[in-house]
Amino acid sequence: MLTTVVARANSNVALAKYWGKRDEGLNLPHTGSLSVVMAGLTTIAGVSVRRGGDADRIVMNGEPASAREGGRISAFLDLVRERAGRRDLLEVDVRTNFPVAAGIASSASTFAALTLAAAALLGLTLSEAELSALARRGSGSAARSVPGGYVEWLRGHACDGSDSVAVQVAPASHWPLGIVVAVTDEGPKRVGSREGMASTVRESPFFAAWLATHDADLAAIRRGVLARDIASVGAAAERNCLKMHAVSMAGPEGLIYWNPATLAVIDRVHGLRGEGLQAYFTIDAGPQVKVICPRPERDAVADALERVAGVRRVLLSEPGSGATVVERA
Ligand code: DP6
Repeated sequence: MLTTVVARANSNVALAKYWGKRDEGLNLPHTGSLSVVMAGLTTIAGVSVRRGGDADRIVMNGEPASAREGGRISAFLDLVRERAGRRDLLEVDVRTNFPVAAGIASSASTFAALTLAAAALLGLTLSEAELSALARRGSGSAARSVPGGYVEWLRGHACDGSDSVAVQVAPASHWPLGIVVAVTDEGPKRVGSREGMASTVRESPFFAAWLATHDADLAAIRRGVLARDIASVGAAAERNCLKMHAVSMAGPEGLIYWNPATLAVIDRVHGLRGEGLQAYFTIDAGPQVKVICPRPERDAVADALERVAGVRRVLLSEPGSGATVVERA
């Protein structure tokens, strides 16, 4: 019987966003979404059987998890235990190599890595689709960090969520995109995605328009990825991102995830296009800006963004691989 399993997963950046759940318990989205797995922005999760103690022990980046984070992870581990028919208490050690809870989808890489490690440790043999559906229960975007490369999370229609899984649209090697993340604030965001999307669904007067137009963006992005057409992917991704933020701004909390540097980066990306570079932005539930461009232009884009006032640092990435178990003992 295994006593420890370690798994690794990369984060992902959504080009067509997931913003709104139709079922909060099962984490089922109102729409499909499409993302790119980001190589090098990685979480490593070790899960071991705990001997003694009366609760799971969860350590994140070397510190005991807060009650809130620990509670969310333990609740997720309960799902894995239930599925495996096991009752073991677990020790979890999660390490993420980029700012967490800041809008770079650390929950995606964390729950994808945790899913693979916990499922293997507790003796479950699951397909990629089943692993993706399980990861979804931890965090929606985690479903998209199970496969690698360009990944679509299908909305699905089944009440139990069994068809709401992420599938690979194309492997990372299909299209060597450049990805630059301009970090404008390393701290945790004020309102998490979960709360932000919930209030948007309930009360944003624009939510119906988001739903009515999302599938067209998703289809344009899927087509553009398959055709390796940066201009059409970039234009549709920017439009989809701005809609997601407009919907949130119009909600009851007037959610603004941006800071002044976020807007300065958007402005610089427009400027770079004027200078002939094919750079396009997208922004998740935080003030960081993710920019996609052809891989040969990545260094020039990164140099330009590093100089924007308020940008603290840039992270470089490219399409990466899916989640994988790296150690079993
Ligand atoms: C803006 O996956 O973090 O990054 O399912 O509640 O854990 P939960 O939400 P989460 O939301 C991600 C929202 C987003 C867009 C996206 O990644 O598609």
